Amino acid sequence: MIGVSPRQLPEWAALVGHAKELAKTDLRHLFAEDPGRLAWSTFEVGPLHIDLSKHLIRQETLVLLENLARARFLPDAITAMLTGEHINVSEDRAVLHTALRNGANLAGPVDGIDVGVEVEKVLTRMEQFARAVRANQRVGCTGKPFTAIVNIGIGGSDLGPAMVTKALYDFSDKSRAVYFVSNIDPIAIDEVFNRCDPETTLFVVVSKTFGTLETLTNAKAARQWLLKALGEHEDAVEKHFVAVSTNADLVSSFGIDTENMFGFWDFIGGRYSVDSAVGLAIMLAIGPERFRSFLRGFASIDQHLRETPLSHNVPVLLGLLAVWYRNFFGAQSQAILPYSQRLARFPAYLQQLTMESNGKSVRIDGATVDYDTGAVYWGEPGTDGQHAFYQLLHQGTVLIPADFILFAEPLGGPDAQQDLLFANGLAQTRALAFGRDDAELEELGVPAQLRPARRMPGNRPTTTILAQRLTPEVLGALIALYEHSVFTQGVIWGIDSFDQWGVELGKELASELVPILTSAGAPVLDPFDTSTADLVSRYRHMRGRPT
Ligand code: F6P
Repeated sequence: MIGVSPRQLPEWAALVGHAKELAKTDLRHLFAEDPGRLAWSTFEVGPLHIDLSKHLIRQETLVLLENLARARFLPDAITAMLTGEHINVSEDRAVLHTALRNGANLAGPVDGIDVGVEVEKVLTRMEQFARAVRANQRVGCTGKPFTAIVNIGIGGSDLGPAMVTKALYDFSDKSRAVYFVSNIDPIAIDEVFNRCDPETTLFVVVSKTFGTLETLTNAKAARQWLLKALGEHEDAVEKHFVAVSTNADLVSSFGIDTENMFGFWDFIGGRYSVDSAVGLAIMLAIGPERFRSFLRGFASIDQHLRETPLSHNVPVLLGLLAVWYRNFFGAQSQAILPYSQRLARFPAYLQQLTMESNGKSVRIDGATVDYDTGAVYWGEPGTDGQHAFYQLLHQGTVLIPADFILFAEPLGGPDAQQDLLFANGLAQTRALAFGRDDAELEELGVPAQLRPARRMPGNRPTTTILAQRLTPEVLGALIALYEHSVFTQGVIWGIDSFDQWGVELGKELASELVPILTSAGAPVLDPFDTSTADLVSRYRHMRGRPT
């Protein structure tokens, strides 16, 4: 399977022909020709209702996509992931984020680790710690309770906890503020220092490797800030710093006692780690019970993935639809449009999940792909997006499939506004799907010369995800849905969705540049290209350093 381009497969060719057929029709006709459309294109999964009816598909499309999935051995790949095979080939690792929400499903140890037991042990320690902090029993070195939690991490060690903490704010203990520092930009940590009091601040340093420049630099700055104020207390660092990492040695060489470390494992990828100890800040905010319910949301989708035939397997279908648009319609990007202010960071979170996973151009067997892989994911909450970029979604020249995430109940505020919010989201999916043609414009009295500009082409595909309310469980389910969609896409493309070698070179070159930018004397710039050398000189000049 791995050594073959999916383009060589007859199942791929069948989809090419089918896409051509579908290009001759549109969503108005697709709805009209099949009164039973809703029956095969809408699904209930966990706490979510999923409507795929406004996609450029017929029932047959799903069958053809399923055929492709079988030809790529997707069912075997799902089993391989769920049972801890080393499917992350380039790093020779298992991929077991699903064990974080139900380790009991694993038949036995993986790589010598009884994963279910170990996951539970860490969860229990997290819970004890979170309860103690939330009850003001675990306090700072001067005996004061913590009023601020500062999560220092980047990428998967920031985006997940930051997104979820914001999303579930209404379920959190508001007596403690939770801040996130990720960027190495000095102003980021400075903003937090300005808002916090060292005596009542708890730092959670999160880094899978504990070797990430941004995180260690910010953590060192935080330690310095703390010791400046509380240095006379021997236990200042011990009381005010905890770590989340897989690397106990580096945690203790940083000066954090491993007693204050919450572990996870190599088989949890950074972008798949929000439900591991990486979610400690979330648990501190929402409490252990709600964190468990967050995990249950993930587990409901995992169970669905494991037990449901491909034809009704929603995350699989979502992944296959992503392939459908990317490879058979040339779609370059995918919009994520949550109609919830609390999900403002969800698109950013998904950017790492999707783009770090599937932004690959080499297959697992080392061959360069001869087809497109991961799309660009982006988005903003509705209705703000409507007044910014939806114009291009409706009338632009590129096809951008969009996911609309809608809720029935508000999390607070004037209740009637939820009706307006929902109406807006639903209206957009209608306008995108069915547009408005010249005959309708004429009926509305629009003069002929204005009709081209006001014509709404429609036929723009959307997924609608509907849930009662944005609860911890719903959010867990939503994340798992995307995780498994990303996985499905990666299997079709034959790529390793769990490594991220593309980010390494930039890190290496940055550390090479630091001494060149900061040296006391003028550096030798010969090894650099002329653009880089020029920019180094300009920067040094602007910083008052000899050039
Ligand atoms: O540089 C990319 C990356 O490795 C991500 O995959 C990861 O989430 C992030 O850096 C942070 O890594 P760490 O948790 O090891 O600090």
